[in-house]
Amino acid sequence: MPNKSVSSEAHENYIFIFTISIIAAMAGLLFGYDTGVISGSLHFISTHFFVKDTRTQEIIVSAVPIGALLGALLSSKSSFLLGRRASIILSSVVFILGTALVVFAASVGMVITGRLIMGLAVGLSSMIVPMYLAEITPPRVRGTAIFLFQLAITIGILSAFLVNYFYVDSGNWRAMFAIAFIPSVLLGVGMIFMPMSARWLLLKGRKKDAKSVLKKLHPRAEVSKELKEIEVSLSHPSCRWRDLFETRLVLLVFLTFTLFAFQQLSGINAVLYYAPTVFAKAGFAGVKGGIIASIIIGSMNVFATLVGVWLVDIVGRRLLLYVGASGIIISMLVLGASFAGFFGKQPEAIALIAILVFIFSFAISLGGVPWILMSEVFPLHARGMGMAIANMAGWGFNIIVSANFLSYMNAIGIGNAFWTFAGFTVLCLLFVILFMPETKNRSLDEIELNLYAGKRLRDL
Ligand code: BGC
Repeated sequence: MPNKSVSSEAHENYIFIFTISIIAAMAGLLFGYDTGVISGSLHFISTHFFVKDTRTQEIIVSAVPIGALLGALLSSKSSFLLGRRASIILSSVVFILGTALVVFAASVGMVITGRLIMGLAVGLSSMIVPMYLAEITPPRVRGTAIFLFQLAITIGILSAFLVNYFYVDSGNWRAMFAIAFIPSVLLGVGMIFMPMSARWLLLKGRKKDAKSVLKKLHPRAEVSKELKEIEVSLSHPSCRWRDLFETRLVLLVFLTFTLFAFQQLSGINAVLYYAPTVFAKAGFAGVKGGIIASIIIGSMNVFATLVGVWLVDIVGRRLLLYVGASGIIISMLVLGASFAGFFGKQPEAIALIAILVFIFSFAISLGGVPWILMSEVFPLHARGMGMAIANMAGWGFNIIVSANFLSYMNAIGIGNAFWTFAGFTVLCLLFVILFMPETKNRSLDEIELNLYAGKRLRDL
């Protein structure tokens, strides 16, 4: 249609881009589902296989983040060799494999192996999907598309909590896990029909294919400009791992690594993974009471993430982190105090309110912002490796927290455990004040120029 206006073309492109984002975000949904499903099923798995010791329970829980760390390590290679789209399809096959192992597990060892394999898929896709989204979306909608991935994670967590509730009376933990087959298949089959990343195609010298992909995603008038921009960005000498540490790129590694570390040291997954256990301690009635409480938490997580999506390009990343980190510190102090007996013998109500404020504060700030910064700050030639390291920091610290939380809580008391998270978040706030640049409304080229012009991290 030669007479089609640029704006109607752009509109059609947006619908297509939105469809791609939804399909790719299935990976986020699975990430969240695998995070959330364990909190409701752990009790039944333990009963089924006669697991009584805390250590084995912690291993069952942390098998996903351990697998994910490995997946994140492989993601840079896989995104380069196989390409972004094929790697996402591969991760869907791995998701299906891992899920099948858990669903048909005949021993606790099989459950752990299945969860390790699921984790591999989560780690692979949690780096490659944001990368794919960043590469197929035009700058105007890039932030929103990446935050959509975080939104999918929270919807996945909430779905898991709802499924946990649905099966709590029957204790059918196999069915809880089996639901994950649906988004896994949708992801794999859906991605077959989605375009490859034009950037990867150019990287592999397939200019004609790259051009035809760009035509589907951008108004005709913008295609050659886009093509040129990618070619310029690819003309940089390719980056090696050690360049990340021997040049000023190390500042970006420091920034994104530390943000992901603080994301995990806020205690988010201690709360999410062990919500029913924690609530039982706060006096909620039985496993069911705990699961209901976790549904309330999961809903708040989705709602607050929507608030974050809305605000991030209006008020900026730094302000969100100031407000969010302060909210985390205050709510963790109150939560710790409620468990330490400061509010009498039945602290459920105060504990629940503190947890909700905590989740809200996390979701508008440390939930989405590290993912956005990780995809924004690295120059294109270093993006894959830089993102892989940041992502590995997230999974590494996730393991440290989730694998030790129960033992730590038993050793020093639940109140002190929550106060420790408040302490880490004070450090996070200081880090943001001193080092984090504001990337709202900033072109990526400008950030790169400032980096090489020798500016301080804070002023990039
Ligand atoms: C974090 C996850 C966490 C989730 C909660 C993500 O950004 O990386 O570890 O479980 O947010 O919404």
